[in-house]
Amino acid sequence: MLAALASLALLTGCGKQSIAPGRSPQAHDISLLWWWMLGVATIVFLGAVGLLALAWIRRGTAGLPFVGEREDINRGLVLLFGIGIPVVVLVALFAIADVYLVAQTAAPAAASTSMTVEVIGHQWWWEIRYPGSGAVTANEIHIPVNTRVNVIATSADVIHSFWVPQLARKIDMVAGRQNRILMYASRPGVYRGQCAEFCGLQHANMALEVVAQPVSAYQAWLANMASPARRTSGAAVSTGERAFMGLQCASCHQIRGTPAQATVGPDLTHLATRSTLAGDEIPDDPAQLAAWIRAPQSIKPGSRMPDLGLSTSQVAQIVSYLESLS
Ligand code: CUA
Repeated sequence: MLAALASLALLTGCGKQSIAPGRSPQAHDISLLWWWMLGVATIVFLGAVGLLALAWIRRGTAGLPFVGEREDINRGLVLLFGIGIPVVVLVALFAIADVYLVAQTAAPAAASTSMTVEVIGHQWWWEIRYPGSGAVTANEIHIPVNTRVNVIATSADVIHSFWVPQLARKIDMVAGRQNRILMYASRPGVYRGQCAEFCGLQHANMALEVVAQPVSAYQAWLANMASPARRTSGAAVSTGERAFMGLQCASCHQIRGTPAQATVGPDLTHLATRSTLAGDEIPDDPAQLAAWIRAPQSIKPGSRMPDLGLSTSQVAQIVSYLESLS
């Protein structure tokens, strides 16, 4: 009973992320298919266990019950249960799964494709680009509800896999290839996604959020995201900006509208608008950001964000600059 409960908790996602309830037609289809497969597998499993129990009860007795020593019937039953039924069941499940897969992979009709998002996997974060708008962000995809979103997935390094279980199936992200998937959210919400292909030390901490919003809120978000950085005024903020540009931060990160134009790490142009840091690992607030800048290797060992050995005041200045970028 405990094992059954534990596996149910695992299947439905006992942590921050869940496969249920599905919030798109695709996710609904996938969970329906999953329940059918579970049902068929349960019937086959119970049948096999039943036959094993029968064999155990009747051990030492010749022949099958009701059949006795009829060799032809015995052989027929073995062929039926050993080959016939498994072949029919597996072929049927394969065909049904294939129909689902093709339906989900089919390129959307031009009229119904409202937008495209490029998602680029990095060890261990997600680069998000909105073609045509200039908007770039990281680890947080905003989409309008009830809109077909054409996701183009690729990788900058090793193979990753883009997976937002409540919205769509998985798609591998392979360097040099552009894989496509349709993403669709039926209602507003924040849907957690996770890298679903082992990609190194911090694979488990390569997560993202999909924020599905009403169309007008999404458009306002996109317009802000496409604009260059606007820091607030104030001494701490401008000192922080100089520190960011003068220390090594600017050699890895981009802040559009400033001299920082590197693309090794995530774009930080509107960092303060994001809800998480470090690939959805920690919340985006000044205290967490300071901890992250001070000792990233203790929060996310192996990540490419180095421990720079900055002083407490340097960290505080940079935090006040970055948290002003809304
Ligand atoms: Cu990226 Cu696992």
